[in-house]
Amino acid sequence: MSNATLLLEGKEYALPVIAGVEKEIAIDISSLRAKSGAVTYDPGYGNTGSCSSAITFIDGERGILRYRGYPIEQIAEKASFVEVAYLLVYGELPTKVELATFSLNLTRHTLLQEDMKKFFEGFPNSAHPMGILSAMAASLSTYYPDTEKREPNIIRLLAKLPTIAAFSYKKSIGQPFIYPRNDLTYTQNFLQMMFAVPCEPYVVNETVDRVLNLLLILHADHEQNCSTSTVRMVGSSGANLFSAISAGISALWGPLHGGANQEVLEMLQNIRSEGGDVRKFVQMAKDKSSKFKLMGFGHRVYKNFDPRASILKKAADDVLASLHVSDPLLSIARELEDIALHDSYFMERKLYPNVDFYSGIIYRAIGIPTEMFTVMFALGRAPGWIAQWKEMVDDPTTRINRPRQIYTGARERAFVPIGERERTLVTA
Ligand code: CMC
Repeated sequence: MSNATLLLEGKEYALPVIAGVEKEIAIDISSLRAKSGAVTYDPGYGNTGSCSSAITFIDGERGILRYRGYPIEQIAEKASFVEVAYLLVYGELPTKVELATFSLNLTRHTLLQEDMKKFFEGFPNSAHPMGILSAMAASLSTYYPDTEKREPNIIRLLAKLPTIAAFSYKKSIGQPFIYPRNDLTYTQNFLQMMFAVPCEPYVVNETVDRVLNLLLILHADHEQNCSTSTVRMVGSSGANLFSAISAGISALWGPLHGGANQEVLEMLQNIRSEGGDVRKFVQMAKDKSSKFKLMGFGHRVYKNFDPRASILKKAADDVLASLHVSDPLLSIARELEDIALHDSYFMERKLYPNVDFYSGIIYRAIGIPTEMFTVMFALGRAPGWIAQWKEMVDDPTTRINRPRQIYTGARERAFVPIGERERTLVTA
């Protein structure tokens, strides 16, 4: 192991340099404060490695994404979502027997406790399904409080999230809940809980099932992003799995993270309803005073292209063609991408379409309502969150996550009793 030398106020400090298997390097500053009294400062954590992990590798410059070493392009083409979930959570691709057992376990735990249905009655019809998903994920901890039962709880969580998601949709449209069916696969079952109605038989469309697997796979993990770091942060205190994942769901909901897929579609609809002038929106995104951003563009890590977006761009064409759907929003998306990719503002800042740019068009084509887009992201990300939580819990070097700060508030001052306080009121 080599050292880096830091020169601080005339004194030298040797800091160990660590390297990952893909030769990415980091300066280990964990001893810096004890040695020198200084902390590092990195708002937004753009330069901070918060853990070491063997789950997902990303090279943002070269557009590489691998789960447990397998390139995303190969996984996307050849695997099912359940297989990928197994790979992420347990570290290796399952054998036939392992996959069959895992799938069977997932199938057998899809039902919610009947009591939990009452929770849905309490939410308003207009409740955003992400709010419901987060609340229901946390409430699972009240039904399964035994934290020693880690494996059953992992299975329960993966199995029940699609049921919760589908129930939240049914609630929003005033339809009865459709119970899970044990003769269907994970994704088929989700589709029937979403779209079946009690009065009609429901047949799962094969193309829809295939593309749903693809979408979930592409979202399954993405190393230390905002929601995953949140899961690790909450989990580092020893909080239970369900609470940690509930926090991750809340973090994902934000429009700069998973919430971007809903925002992209709303933006495309907006462009269309305002006459389709794509250049006007590109201009607005460049104007800092407008506060408008091109949703679905840019990424903290990818500075060349997002391999997930490349896969989805192609899939959007194929899916719409095979489902005989013609969507004017797809043409707007393509035009927007083309203009932005040739614009110096986006080129200089290395802003490319991200995973959320084309996913919404596909969700729309397979009948998923806009408000459910981020929920779909959460269903896909669940195995990644669980794998990262498990890795953290199993790592003997894990400590409670507790960043430092640089204080910028008032210096010490004497307390002023209430009767002696005077403040000039500033009126607008
Ligand atoms: N439209 C216009 N300008 C942008 C955009 C955008 N979508 N994204 C970044 N910029 C500008 C930003 O204003 C800044 O400009 P300047 O250097 O002049 O100050 C520069 O590009 C660098 O951006 P940043 O905000 O410092 O980058 P970040 O790494 O902090 O943020 C991001 C990354 C994804 C939050 C951001 O690009 C963004 O807000 N994109 C739109 C929301 C979005 O699509 N989010 C989904 C991300 S992918 C799915 C996921 O994993 O969550």
